[in-house]
Order: sequence, then C-alpha cells, then structure tokens
Amino acid sequence: MLTTSSSDKQRHLPPAMSDSPNPVTGLSPADCDVVRAIWAKAYAPEVRKENGETLILSLFKTFPETQDLFRALKDLSLKELGESNVFARHCSLVMAQLNAMIGQLENTDKLVPMLVKLAEDHYKVNVKTAEIKHLSAITEGYFCHVLKQDQLSPEVTQAWTRLLTALVGVFQQVENQKA
Ligand code: HEM
Repeated sequence: MLTTSSSDKQRHLPPAMSDSPNPVTGLSPADCDVVRAIWAKAYAPEVRKENGETLILSLFKTFPETQDLFRALKDLSLKELGESNVFARHCSLVMAQLNAMIGQLENTDKLVPMLVKLAEDHYKVNVKTAEIKHLSAITEGYFCHVLKQDQLSPEVTQAWTRLLTALVGVFQQVENQKA
C-alpha cells in the first residue's frame, strides 16, 4: 500500500504527466494520444486500403487540380482510378508513410527529418505548401467519414489541427529555403 508522508504533502510536486505542447510540434501528450487513437481506426488492417483510397479520392474530388500532379493518374476518371493498381499502390504508400510518421509523434529527433524529407521529395514533384493546405482542408470531413460521425469533438479537431499546422510549417520552411 502506498503511503504519503507529511513532507511529500508539503512539497509541491509537478503533475505526473505534463500536458504542455511539445515546443517542436505544438502537440501536447494528450493531442498525441488522440491522433494515435483516431489513426489506429483509420489504419486498421481491414479498412486501411479503403481508407487510403478514400483519402486521396476525396483530395482529387475536392481539388481536381491535385490529380494533375500525378503523371500516371492525371487522365483517369474516378471509375478508372478505382480500378488502377498504380492508384491503389500510391494510396497504400501514403498511408504507410503517415503511419510511420504518427508512430514517431513524440520522438521529434526522428519525426522532424521524416517531415523534412517528405517536404523535399514533394517539392521535386511540385507539391508544395498550397497542396498540403488542400490536404488539411479535407481532413475534418475525412475523419468524420472514417469515424462515421457527423462532427469531430473539439479535442480531436485540436489535435489534428496542431499536427497539420506542424506539417504545413515544415513544407513552408522547405519552400522558403528552395525559393
Ligand atoms: C502527409 C501527406 C502525404 C504523404 C504521407 C505522402 C506520401 C507520398 C509517398 C510515400 C509518395 C511516393 C510513392 C508514390 O509515388 O507512389 C508520394 C508521392 C507523391 N505525392 Fe504524396 N504524400 C502526401 C501528401 C501529398 C499531397 C497533399 C499531394 C498532392 C496534392 C501529393 C502528391 C504526390 C505526388 C504528385 C507524388 C509523386 C507521384 C508520381 O511519381 O507520380 N502528396 N507521396
């Protein structure tokens, strides 16, 4: 049984877990838990393929110009995209990379180089800050779809907004450096 001595009571101990945002990512530990919990649903093995395709399709439907950035996919109709192995493979690579990054949310020494490489690789194929903002714009609707909810709770919205803000920030920095 744990006992608390009177000297412990007098000392002002910090809370067991700080919930202040990480200075690099802007995400608090609670935000990280929320992102991981939602992502575990989106990336569950039985739905991951469908959810990956839904994510990219919703980007193409909302911002049709983004489809033109994909050389191999730009002339395909929505029906043809659904039948394309290139499209399916691309979606699964995007999901795998998102999963790898979310796996390092609190390990900024690993996360930051991953985000910088993502931004640099995308810069080469003309995907810049504006396109990542397009991705941010569809995220809320996307997770409502994944979670089968009409709207997201404020905690979920805050956590994903912070993560996407960090991502946009890295893309912007890379773009500024290359300009
Ligand atoms: C965090 C979000 C994203 C992740 C994790 C991601 C991941 C990836 C990965 C793993 C690849 C290489 C695999 C492949 O070419 O099939 C790739 C390529 C590419 N991505 Fe992304 N991506 C993201 C966001 C975006 C957005 C928002 C756009 C455009 C609006 C985009 C456009 C492209 C293009 C054009 C390529 C090159 C495809 C080609 O070679 O034809 N990506 N992305």
